[in-house]
Amino acid sequence: MPTLDALVFDAYGTLYDVHSVTAKAEGFFPGKGGALSQLWRTKQLEYTWLRSLMGTYENFNVVTEAALRYACASLRLEASATQISALLAQYVLLDAFPEVKTALARLKSRHKLAILSNGAPDTLGALVRNSGLAPLLDATISVDSLRVFKPAMRVYQLAVDQLGVPTNCVGFVSSNCWDAIAAKTFGFTVFWINRLDAPVDLHGAAPDHVIRTLDDIEARL
Ligand code: LAC
Repeated sequence: MPTLDALVFDAYGTLYDVHSVTAKAEGFFPGKGGALSQLWRTKQLEYTWLRSLMGTYENFNVVTEAALRYACASLRLEASATQISALLAQYVLLDAFPEVKTALARLKSRHKLAILSNGAPDTLGALVRNSGLAPLLDATISVDSLRVFKPAMRVYQLAVDQLGVPTNCVGFVSSNCWDAIAAKTFGFTVFWINRLDAPVDLHGAAPDHVIRTLDDIEARL
């Protein structure tokens, strides 16, 4: 394996638990919080792919709000404007997975560390600051400057350009299997975080490493 000078992490689902919105959603819609969170995330990703294919980019905040409104309508939940705002506000307060901070702190001594995410720069930046991860990262890179979402190949090139590290010296870490497959196709060494013991997706090159949490990265370097 090449020396990995940089480790680049996906944000939502990988470092941050998008389903930490469930408690707030459950408070508003008892018995429906889990379903709302799941459908919200599913639609959010679908909308990113569809907008990229259609060439009608709007930033991730716009997509996230549309996905939430769709999910509420689909589940027949009458969400007030206040409830919509409160749920969207959770996006700058998402929980980092428990091991993230200590794992990044250990990895930082030997690697450049960065986030590469669909997130809009304002929301993503606020989340990184609020969660205390900012001092551990060399860069927080958003797709927004390209006006296209993952898994467009040029998104992964952003990390190479901004970090100044060659493609074959970048390790990419994502719990989104489709993102991991895209990063592998681009040429990164890829760690798929498979927290839920899911089967690997079958639409392209398999990830190099399948691990359970960020704590498992070091042993594979
Ligand atoms: C991101 C999405 C894929 O952070 O979770 O880019």
